[in-house]
Amino acid sequence: MEKHHHRGSWGSSLGFLMAAIGSAVGLGNLWGFPFKMGANGGFAFLLIYIILTVAVGFAMLMAEMAIGRKTGRSAVSAFRKLDSRHPEVGYMGVISGTIVVSYYCVLGGLCLRYCLGFFVEAFGGTGFLGHGETFFQSFTTAPWSIILFTALFALITGAILMGGVSGGIEKFSTIAMPALFFMLIALVVYISRQPGAEQGYAFMFTPDWDYLKENFFSVLSTAAGQMFFSLSLAMGIMVAYGSYLKKDENIPRDALLICGADTIIALLAGSLVIPAAFAFVGEDAYMSGVKLLFVTMHQVFFNIGGRFGCFLGFIFFLTVCIAAITSSVSLLEVSVSFGVDRRIDKHKEPKRTRVIAICTIFVFLLATPVALDAMGGTPGTTPLGLLQQWFPSLALKGWNESFINAYSFISEGFLMPLGALLTSLYIGYKYKTTLITDECRMGRSRVLDLCYRFIVPITMLVVLYGQLKNFLG
Ligand code: ALA
Repeated sequence: MEKHHHRGSWGSSLGFLMAAIGSAVGLGNLWGFPFKMGANGGFAFLLIYIILTVAVGFAMLMAEMAIGRKTGRSAVSAFRKLDSRHPEVGYMGVISGTIVVSYYCVLGGLCLRYCLGFFVEAFGGTGFLGHGETFFQSFTTAPWSIILFTALFALITGAILMGGVSGGIEKFSTIAMPALFFMLIALVVYISRQPGAEQGYAFMFTPDWDYLKENFFSVLSTAAGQMFFSLSLAMGIMVAYGSYLKKDENIPRDALLICGADTIIALLAGSLVIPAAFAFVGEDAYMSGVKLLFVTMHQVFFNIGGRFGCFLGFIFFLTVCIAAITSSVSLLEVSVSFGVDRRIDKHKEPKRTRVIAICTIFVFLLATPVALDAMGGTPGTTPLGLLQQWFPSLALKGWNESFINAYSFISEGFLMPLGALLTSLYIGYKYKTTLITDECRMGRSRVLDLCYRFIVPITMLVVLYGQLKNFLG
Protein backbone atom coordinates (compact mmCIF):
# COMPACT_ATOMS: atom_id res chain seq x y z
CA MET A 1 0.00 0.00 0.00
CA GLU A 2 1.12 3.54 -0.72
CA LYS A 3 1.43 5.76 2.29
CA HIS A 4 1.14 9.42 1.49
CA HIS A 5 3.15 10.61 4.47
CA HIS A 6 6.16 8.74 3.17
CA ARG A 7 6.70 11.22 0.40
CA GLY A 8 6.37 14.35 2.53
CA SER A 9 4.26 17.44 1.91
CA TRP A 10 4.46 21.21 2.33
CA GLY A 11 3.63 22.58 5.76
CA SER A 12 1.89 25.74 4.57
CA SER A 13 0.91 27.62 1.47
CA LEU A 14 3.44 30.36 2.19
CA GLY A 15 6.16 27.78 2.74
CA PHE A 16 5.44 26.17 -0.61
CA LEU A 17 5.49 29.57 -2.33
CA MET A 18 8.85 30.44 -0.78
CA ALA A 19 10.27 27.09 -1.89
CA ALA A 20 8.89 27.41 -5.43
CA ILE A 21 10.01 31.04 -5.79
CA GLY A 22 13.35 29.97 -4.31
CA SER A 23 13.62 27.33 -7.01
CA ALA A 24 12.74 29.79 -9.75
CA VAL A 25 15.02 32.56 -8.53
CA GLY A 26 18.54 31.36 -9.16
CA LEU A 27 21.68 32.04 -11.14
CA GLY A 28 19.41 32.38 -14.16
CA ASN A 29 17.89 35.54 -12.68
CA LEU A 30 20.87 37.12 -10.95
CA TRP A 31 23.38 36.47 -13.66
CA GLY A 32 21.85 35.12 -16.89
CA PHE A 33 18.93 37.51 -17.28
CA PRO A 34 20.85 40.82 -16.96
CA PHE A 35 23.35 40.12 -19.70
CA LYS A 36 20.87 38.46 -22.03
CA MET A 37 18.50 41.40 -21.73
CA GLY A 38 21.28 43.94 -22.23
CA ALA A 39 22.69 42.19 -25.28
CA ASN A 40 19.38 41.35 -26.98
CA GLY A 41 17.56 44.62 -27.45
CA GLY A 42 17.07 45.88 -23.86
CA PHE A 43 13.46 46.86 -23.28
CA ALA A 44 12.41 45.13 -26.53
CA PHE A 45 13.78 41.85 -25.10
CA LEU A 46 11.94 42.49 -21.84
CA LEU A 47 8.66 42.94 -23.66
CA ILE A 48 9.06 39.62 -25.50
CA TYR A 49 10.14 37.97 -22.25
CA ILE A 50 7.02 39.18 -20.41
CA ILE A 51 4.67 38.15 -23.25
CA LEU A 52 6.26 34.69 -23.24
CA THR A 53 6.00 34.40 -19.46
CA VAL A 54 2.28 35.17 -19.64
CA ALA A 55 1.45 33.09 -22.73
CA VAL A 56 3.79 30.14 -22.26
CA GLY A 57 5.45 30.09 -18.84
CA PHE A 58 2.30 30.57 -16.79
CA ALA A 59 0.41 27.80 -18.62
CA MET A 60 3.31 25.34 -18.37
CA LEU A 61 3.96 26.12 -14.73
CA MET A 62 0.33 25.45 -13.93
CA ALA A 63 0.44 22.24 -15.97
CA GLU A 64 3.53 20.86 -14.22
CA MET A 65 2.20 21.63 -10.74
CA ALA A 66 -1.23 20.20 -11.60
CA ILE A 67 0.24 16.98 -13.03
CA GLY A 68 2.36 16.57 -9.90
CA ARG A 69 -0.56 17.09 -7.55
CA LYS A 70 -3.03 15.01 -9.51
CA THR A 71 -0.76 11.97 -9.66
CA GLY A 72 0.92 12.54 -6.30
CA ARG A 73 4.19 11.63 -7.98
CA SER A 74 7.38 13.20 -9.34
CA ALA A 75 8.05 13.45 -13.08
CA VAL A 76 8.73 9.89 -14.32
CA SER A 77 6.18 8.19 -12.13
CA ALA A 78 3.65 10.99 -12.77
CA PHE A 79 3.80 10.68 -16.56
CA ARG A 80 3.75 6.91 -16.22
CA LYS A 81 0.54 7.18 -14.18
CA LEU A 82 -1.03 9.27 -16.93
CA ASP A 83 0.00 6.76 -19.59
CA SER A 84 2.18 3.80 -18.74
CA ARG A 85 3.63 3.72 -22.28
CA HIS A 86 4.88 7.30 -22.19
CA PRO A 87 7.09 8.12 -19.23
CA GLU A 88 9.79 9.55 -21.57
CA VAL A 89 8.96 13.20 -20.89
CA GLY A 90 9.49 12.48 -17.21
CA TYR A 91 12.89 10.93 -17.93
CA MET A 92 13.90 13.96 -20.00
CA GLY A 93 13.09 16.15 -16.98
CA VAL A 94 15.07 13.99 -14.58
CA ILE A 95 18.10 13.83 -16.88
CA SER A 96 17.98 17.62 -17.47
CA GLY A 97 17.56 18.42 -13.78
CA THR A 98 20.47 16.17 -12.86
CA ILE A 99 22.79 17.60 -15.50
CA VAL A 100 21.87 21.17 -14.58
CA VAL A 101 22.44 20.59 -10.85
CA SER A 102 25.89 19.19 -11.57
CA TYR A 103 27.18 22.37 -13.22
CA TYR A 104 25.16 24.41 -10.77
CA CYS A 105 27.31 22.88 -8.01
CA VAL A 106 30.50 24.13 -9.68
CA LEU A 107 29.11 27.65 -10.15
CA GLY A 108 27.62 27.58 -6.65
CA GLY A 109 30.97 26.44 -5.27
CA LEU A 110 32.63 29.44 -6.89
CA CYS A 111 29.97 31.72 -5.35
CA LEU A 112 30.71 30.22 -1.93
CA ARG A 113 34.42 30.88 -2.39
CA TYR A 114 33.85 34.54 -3.32
CA CYS A 115 31.36 34.97 -0.48
CA LEU A 116 33.86 33.58 2.01
CA GLY A 117 36.69 35.65 0.51
CA PHE A 118 34.80 38.93 0.79
CA PHE A 119 33.68 38.03 4.31
CA VAL A 120 37.25 37.48 5.49
CA GLU A 121 38.50 40.66 3.80
CA ALA A 122 35.59 42.71 5.17
CA PHE A 123 36.57 41.72 8.69
CA GLY A 124 40.26 42.46 8.44
CA GLY A 125 41.83 39.51 6.63
CA THR A 126 44.02 40.14 3.60
CA GLY A 127 45.22 38.22 0.57
CA PHE A 128 42.19 35.98 0.52
CA LEU A 129 40.77 37.14 -2.79
CA GLY A 130 43.55 38.48 -5.01
CA HIS A 131 42.49 40.60 -7.95
CA GLY A 132 39.83 40.19 -10.64
CA GLU A 133 40.90 38.01 -13.51
CA THR A 134 44.12 36.74 -11.96
CA PHE A 135 42.25 35.31 -9.00
CA PHE A 136 39.58 33.73 -11.21
CA GLN A 137 42.26 32.07 -13.38
CA SER A 138 44.30 30.80 -10.49
CA PHE A 139 41.30 29.54 -8.54
CA THR A 140 39.59 27.76 -11.41
CA THR A 141 42.76 26.13 -12.71
CA ALA A 142 43.80 24.83 -9.28
CA PRO A 143 41.97 21.48 -9.40
CA TRP A 144 41.70 20.78 -5.69
CA SER A 145 40.32 24.13 -4.63
CA ILE A 146 37.54 24.16 -7.20
CA ILE A 147 36.70 20.51 -6.50
CA LEU A 148 36.62 21.23 -2.77
CA PHE A 149 34.12 24.08 -3.12
CA THR A 150 32.02 22.10 -5.61
CA ALA A 151 31.84 19.30 -3.03
CA LEU A 152 30.95 21.79 -0.30
CA PHE A 153 28.09 23.20 -2.35
CA ALA A 154 26.79 19.71 -3.17
CA LEU A 155 26.99 18.79 0.52
CA ILE A 156 25.02 21.87 1.60
CA THR A 157 22.36 21.03 -1.00
CA GLY A 158 22.15 17.40 0.14
CA ALA A 159 22.10 18.42 3.83
CA ILE A 160 19.07 20.69 3.31
CA LEU A 161 17.23 17.87 1.53
CA MET A 162 18.00 15.55 4.44
CA GLY A 163 15.75 17.80 6.55
CA GLY A 164 12.79 16.68 4.41
CA VAL A 165 10.34 18.53 2.21
CA SER A 166 8.79 20.63 4.94
CA GLY A 167 11.57 20.58 7.55
CA GLY A 168 14.42 21.10 5.06
CA ILE A 169 13.46 22.74 1.76
CA GLU A 170 10.52 24.74 3.08
CA LYS A 171 12.15 25.89 6.30
CA PHE A 172 15.36 27.00 4.58
CA SER A 173 13.47 28.85 1.81
CA THR A 174 11.15 30.62 4.25
CA ILE A 175 14.12 32.20 6.02
CA ALA A 176 16.42 32.63 3.03
CA MET A 177 14.09 34.13 0.43
CA PRO A 178 13.00 37.25 2.37
CA ALA A 179 16.67 37.79 3.30
CA LEU A 180 17.64 37.54 -0.37
CA PHE A 181 14.97 40.05 -1.33
CA PHE A 182 16.03 42.68 1.22
CA MET A 183 19.74 42.34 0.47
CA LEU A 184 19.02 42.67 -3.24
CA ILE A 185 16.95 45.83 -2.72
CA ALA A 186 19.67 47.37 -0.52
CA LEU A 187 22.32 46.73 -3.20
CA VAL A 188 20.10 48.07 -5.98
CA VAL A 189 19.50 51.29 -4.01
CA TYR A 190 23.22 51.73 -3.28
CA ILE A 191 24.24 51.23 -6.92
CA SER A 192 21.50 53.57 -8.18
CA ARG A 193 23.19 56.43 -6.33
CA GLN A 194 26.60 55.93 -7.91
CA PRO A 195 27.83 58.08 -10.80
CA GLY A 196 28.10 56.05 -14.01
CA ALA A 197 25.21 53.71 -13.15
CA GLU A 198 22.99 55.58 -15.63
CA GLN A 199 25.06 54.18 -18.50
CA GLY A 200 24.17 50.72 -17.24
CA TYR A 201 20.46 51.55 -17.11
CA ALA A 202 20.68 52.91 -20.64
CA PHE A 203 22.36 49.67 -21.77
CA MET A 204 19.72 47.58 -20.00
CA PHE A 205 16.52 49.46 -20.69
CA THR A 206 16.82 51.40 -23.94
CA PRO A 207 14.67 49.55 -26.48
CA ASP A 208 16.55 48.55 -29.61
CA TRP A 209 13.67 47.86 -32.02
CA ASP A 210 16.02 47.57 -35.00
CA TYR A 211 17.92 44.81 -33.28
CA LEU A 212 14.65 43.05 -32.55
CA LYS A 213 13.48 43.37 -36.15
CA GLU A 214 16.73 42.04 -37.56
CA ASN A 215 17.11 39.19 -35.06
CA PHE A 216 13.53 38.37 -34.18
CA PHE A 217 13.81 34.59 -34.04
CA SER A 218 17.08 34.57 -32.18
CA VAL A 219 15.70 37.04 -29.58
CA LEU A 220 12.53 34.96 -29.26
CA SER A 221 14.52 31.79 -28.78
CA THR A 222 16.91 33.35 -26.24
CA ALA A 223 14.04 34.91 -24.26
CA ALA A 224 11.98 31.70 -24.24
CA GLY A 225 14.96 29.52 -23.27
CA GLN A 226 15.84 31.93 -20.47
CA MET A 227 12.23 32.05 -19.29
CA PHE A 228 11.95 28.26 -19.15
CA PHE A 229 15.17 27.90 -17.22
CA SER A 230 14.29 30.75 -14.91
CA LEU A 231 10.83 29.39 -14.05
CA SER A 232 12.40 25.97 -13.37
CA LEU A 233 10.30 24.38 -16.11
CA ALA A 234 10.95 21.19 -18.10
CA MET A 235 13.33 19.86 -15.44
CA GLY A 236 10.81 17.86 -13.44
CA ILE A 237 11.07 20.36 -10.58
CA MET A 238 7.57 21.78 -10.57
CA VAL A 239 6.03 18.32 -11.02
CA ALA A 240 7.86 17.13 -7.90
CA TYR A 241 7.03 20.31 -5.95
CA GLY A 242 3.40 20.02 -7.10
CA SER A 243 3.23 16.44 -5.85
CA TYR A 244 3.76 17.68 -2.28
CA LEU A 245 0.84 20.13 -2.51
CA LYS A 246 -2.40 19.84 -0.60
CA LYS A 247 -5.59 19.44 -2.62
CA ASP A 248 -6.99 22.81 -1.59
CA GLU A 249 -3.96 24.82 -2.75
CA ASN A 250 -4.85 27.41 -5.40
CA ILE A 251 -2.53 26.45 -8.27
CA PRO A 252 -3.39 29.27 -10.74
CA ARG A 253 -2.82 31.90 -8.06
CA ASP A 254 0.50 30.31 -7.06
CA ALA A 255 1.64 30.09 -10.69
CA LEU A 256 0.88 33.78 -11.12
CA LEU A 257 2.81 34.72 -7.97
CA ILE A 258 5.81 32.59 -8.96
CA CYS A 259 5.92 34.13 -12.48
CA GLY A 260 5.61 37.64 -11.01
CA ALA A 261 8.22 37.24 -8.29
CA ASP A 262 10.67 35.56 -10.66
CA THR A 263 10.39 38.38 -13.21
CA ILE A 264 10.64 41.14 -10.60
CA ILE A 265 13.79 39.63 -9.11
CA ALA A 266 15.34 39.22 -12.55
CA LEU A 267 14.65 42.92 -13.22
CA LEU A 268 16.11 43.94 -9.87
CA ALA A 269 19.23 41.93 -10.69
CA GLY A 270 19.38 43.67 -14.06
CA SER A 271 19.22 47.01 -12.28
CA LEU A 272 22.16 45.97 -10.13
CA VAL A 273 24.72 43.90 -11.99
CA ILE A 274 25.10 45.79 -15.26
CA PRO A 275 24.85 49.34 -13.79
CA ALA A 276 27.41 48.33 -11.14
CA ALA A 277 29.75 47.09 -13.87
CA PHE A 278 29.43 50.38 -15.77
CA ALA A 279 29.83 52.52 -12.63
CA PHE A 280 32.84 50.76 -11.14
CA VAL A 281 34.67 48.93 -13.91
CA GLY A 282 33.69 50.66 -17.15
CA GLU A 283 32.50 49.68 -20.59
CA ASP A 284 35.43 47.34 -21.19
CA ALA A 285 34.36 45.03 -18.38
CA TYR A 286 33.16 41.52 -19.20
CA MET A 287 29.42 41.99 -19.58
CA SER A 288 28.49 38.36 -20.21
CA GLY A 289 29.43 34.75 -19.44
CA VAL A 290 30.90 33.43 -16.19
CA LYS A 291 33.38 36.30 -16.12
CA LEU A 292 30.56 38.82 -15.64
CA LEU A 293 29.75 37.23 -12.30
CA PHE A 294 33.19 36.22 -11.14
CA VAL A 295 35.58 38.75 -12.66
CA THR A 296 33.56 41.91 -13.25
CA MET A 297 31.57 41.76 -10.00
CA HIS A 298 34.76 41.00 -8.08
CA GLN A 299 36.34 44.12 -9.57
CA VAL A 300 33.21 46.16 -8.78
CA PHE A 301 33.51 45.55 -5.03
CA PHE A 302 37.27 45.93 -4.99
CA ASN A 303 36.93 49.25 -6.80
CA ILE A 304 34.30 50.45 -4.33
CA GLY A 305 37.21 50.00 -1.99
CA GLY A 306 38.11 49.34 1.63
CA ARG A 307 36.30 47.17 4.07
CA PHE A 308 32.99 48.70 3.04
CA GLY A 309 33.47 47.50 -0.54
CA CYS A 310 34.36 44.04 0.72
CA PHE A 311 31.31 44.03 2.98
CA LEU A 312 29.07 44.88 0.01
CA GLY A 313 30.84 42.16 -1.97
CA PHE A 314 30.04 39.72 0.82
CA ILE A 315 26.36 40.76 0.80
CA PHE A 316 26.23 40.43 -2.99
CA PHE A 317 27.75 36.95 -3.09
CA LEU A 318 25.65 35.86 -0.11
CA THR A 319 22.57 36.87 -2.12
CA VAL A 320 23.83 34.89 -5.10
CA CYS A 321 24.64 31.88 -2.87
CA ILE A 322 21.13 31.86 -1.40
CA ALA A 323 19.58 32.09 -4.86
CA ALA A 324 21.81 29.26 -6.06
CA ILE A 325 21.19 27.00 -3.05
CA THR A 326 17.38 27.25 -3.10
CA SER A 327 17.52 26.37 -6.81
CA SER A 328 20.05 23.54 -6.49
CA VAL A 329 17.95 22.05 -3.69
CA SER A 330 14.98 21.87 -6.05
CA LEU A 331 17.15 20.49 -8.86
CA LEU A 332 18.56 17.73 -6.67
CA GLU A 333 15.06 16.99 -5.36
CA VAL A 334 14.21 15.93 -8.93
CA SER A 335 16.51 12.92 -8.85
CA VAL A 336 15.83 12.27 -5.17
CA SER A 337 12.05 12.19 -5.72
CA PHE A 338 12.62 9.98 -8.77
CA GLY A 339 14.53 7.49 -6.61
CA VAL A 340 12.02 7.66 -3.77
CA ASP A 341 8.97 7.24 -6.04
CA ARG A 342 10.60 4.33 -7.82
CA ARG A 343 10.91 2.55 -4.52
CA ILE A 344 7.38 3.46 -3.44
CA ASP A 345 5.97 2.26 -6.77
CA LYS A 346 7.70 -1.06 -6.13
CA HIS A 347 6.10 -1.12 -2.66
CA LYS A 348 9.42 -0.69 -0.93
CA GLU A 349 10.36 1.62 1.92
CA PRO A 350 11.32 5.01 0.40
CA LYS A 351 14.67 5.28 2.28
CA ARG A 352 14.91 8.96 1.44
CA THR A 353 18.14 9.52 3.37
CA ARG A 354 19.96 6.82 1.43
CA VAL A 355 18.59 8.08 -1.90
CA ILE A 356 19.77 11.63 -1.08
CA ALA A 357 23.27 10.37 -0.26
CA ILE A 358 23.49 8.43 -3.53
CA CYS A 359 22.15 11.31 -5.62
CA THR A 360 24.51 13.84 -3.99
CA ILE A 361 27.55 11.68 -4.68
CA PHE A 362 26.41 10.99 -8.23
CA VAL A 363 25.88 14.69 -8.95
CA PHE A 364 29.27 15.54 -7.49
CA LEU A 365 30.95 12.98 -9.75
CA LEU A 366 29.06 14.36 -12.74
CA ALA A 367 30.27 17.83 -11.78
CA THR A 368 33.97 16.97 -11.66
CA PRO A 369 34.68 17.26 -15.43
CA VAL A 370 33.04 20.72 -15.36
CA ALA A 371 35.20 21.73 -12.41
CA LEU A 372 38.38 20.24 -13.83
CA ASP A 373 38.31 21.91 -17.22
CA ALA A 374 37.99 25.30 -15.52
CA MET A 375 35.05 26.42 -17.67
CA GLY A 376 37.15 25.83 -20.78
CA GLY A 377 40.25 27.45 -19.20
CA THR A 378 42.45 24.34 -19.45
CA PRO A 379 42.20 23.41 -23.15
CA GLY A 380 43.42 19.78 -23.05
CA THR A 381 40.59 18.66 -20.78
CA THR A 382 37.64 20.20 -22.60
CA PRO A 383 35.33 17.85 -24.59
CA LEU A 384 37.01 19.14 -27.74
CA GLY A 385 40.47 18.56 -26.31
CA LEU A 386 39.58 14.98 -25.40
CA LEU A 387 37.74 14.20 -28.64
CA GLN A 388 40.54 15.58 -30.77
CA GLN A 389 42.76 12.75 -29.61
CA TRP A 390 40.59 10.44 -31.73
CA PHE A 391 39.24 12.90 -34.30
CA PRO A 392 42.04 15.40 -34.87
CA SER A 393 40.10 17.45 -37.40
CA LEU A 394 37.13 18.12 -35.11
CA ALA A 395 36.26 21.83 -35.18
CA LEU A 396 35.43 24.07 -32.25
CA LYS A 397 31.68 24.48 -31.78
CA GLY A 398 29.65 26.05 -28.97
CA TRP A 399 28.85 22.70 -27.36
CA ASN A 400 32.37 21.32 -27.21
CA GLU A 401 34.43 24.26 -26.00
CA SER A 402 33.94 23.36 -22.33
CA PHE A 403 32.15 20.74 -20.26
CA ILE A 404 29.75 23.33 -18.91
CA ASN A 405 28.73 24.16 -22.48
CA ALA A 406 28.41 20.49 -23.39
CA TYR A 407 26.20 19.91 -20.34
CA SER A 408 24.04 22.93 -21.01
CA PHE A 409 23.73 21.89 -24.67
CA ILE A 410 22.29 18.49 -23.67
CA SER A 411 19.91 19.98 -21.09
CA GLU A 412 18.92 23.56 -21.98
CA GLY A 413 19.75 23.19 -25.65
CA PHE A 414 18.02 19.93 -26.39
CA LEU A 415 16.19 17.89 -23.73
CA MET A 416 14.35 20.79 -22.08
CA PRO A 417 12.77 22.37 -25.16
CA LEU A 418 11.97 18.90 -26.53
CA GLY A 419 10.43 17.84 -23.21
CA ALA A 420 8.32 21.00 -23.01
CA LEU A 421 7.22 20.53 -26.62
CA LEU A 422 6.08 16.95 -25.96
CA THR A 423 4.42 17.87 -22.65
CA SER A 424 2.31 20.57 -24.28
CA LEU A 425 1.38 18.30 -27.20
CA TYR A 426 0.36 15.51 -24.81
CA ILE A 427 -1.77 17.91 -22.79
CA GLY A 428 -3.24 19.66 -25.81
CA TYR A 429 -4.10 16.63 -27.93
CA LYS A 430 -4.01 13.50 -25.80
CA TYR A 431 -4.97 14.24 -22.21
CA LYS A 432 -6.81 17.44 -23.14
CA THR A 433 -6.65 20.73 -21.27
CA THR A 434 -9.30 19.49 -18.84
CA LEU A 435 -6.58 17.37 -17.18
CA ILE A 436 -5.10 20.64 -15.95
CA THR A 437 -8.23 22.76 -15.53
CA ASP A 438 -10.05 20.05 -13.54
CA GLU A 439 -7.12 19.68 -11.16
CA CYS A 440 -6.99 23.48 -10.82
CA ARG A 441 -10.76 23.58 -10.25
CA MET A 442 -11.30 25.94 -13.16
CA GLY A 443 -13.96 25.88 -15.84
CA ARG A 444 -13.10 25.08 -19.46
CA SER A 445 -10.56 27.51 -20.85
CA ARG A 446 -10.26 28.18 -24.55
CA VAL A 447 -7.23 30.35 -23.90
CA LEU A 448 -5.38 27.50 -22.20
CA ASP A 449 -6.45 25.17 -25.02
CA LEU A 450 -4.83 27.58 -27.42
CA CYS A 451 -1.68 27.71 -25.29
CA TYR A 452 -1.15 23.95 -25.00
CA ARG A 453 -2.13 23.17 -28.58
CA PHE A 454 -0.45 25.96 -30.51
CA ILE A 455 1.39 28.71 -28.65
CA VAL A 456 3.64 26.51 -26.48
CA PRO A 457 4.50 23.95 -29.20
CA ILE A 458 5.32 26.65 -31.76
CA THR A 459 7.44 28.57 -29.25
CA MET A 460 9.28 25.41 -28.25
CA LEU A 461 10.04 24.57 -31.87
CA VAL A 462 11.56 28.02 -32.30
CA VAL A 463 13.61 27.54 -29.12
CA LEU A 464 14.78 24.10 -30.19
CA TYR A 465 15.85 25.40 -33.58
CA GLY A 466 17.53 28.47 -32.07
CA GLN A 467 19.40 26.48 -29.43
CA LEU A 468 20.63 23.81 -31.83
CA LYS A 469 21.81 26.49 -34.24
CA ASN A 470 23.49 28.37 -31.44
CA PHE A 471 25.42 25.39 -30.06
CA LEU A 472 26.19 23.56 -33.30
CA GLY A 473 26.64 26.49 -35.68
N1 ALA B 1 15.34 28.50 -12.03
C1 ALA B 1 16.69 28.39 -11.65
C2 ALA B 1 17.51 29.53 -12.16
O1 ALA B 1 16.98 30.48 -12.67
C3 ALA B 1 17.23 27.07 -12.07
O2 ALA B 1 18.70 29.52 -12.05
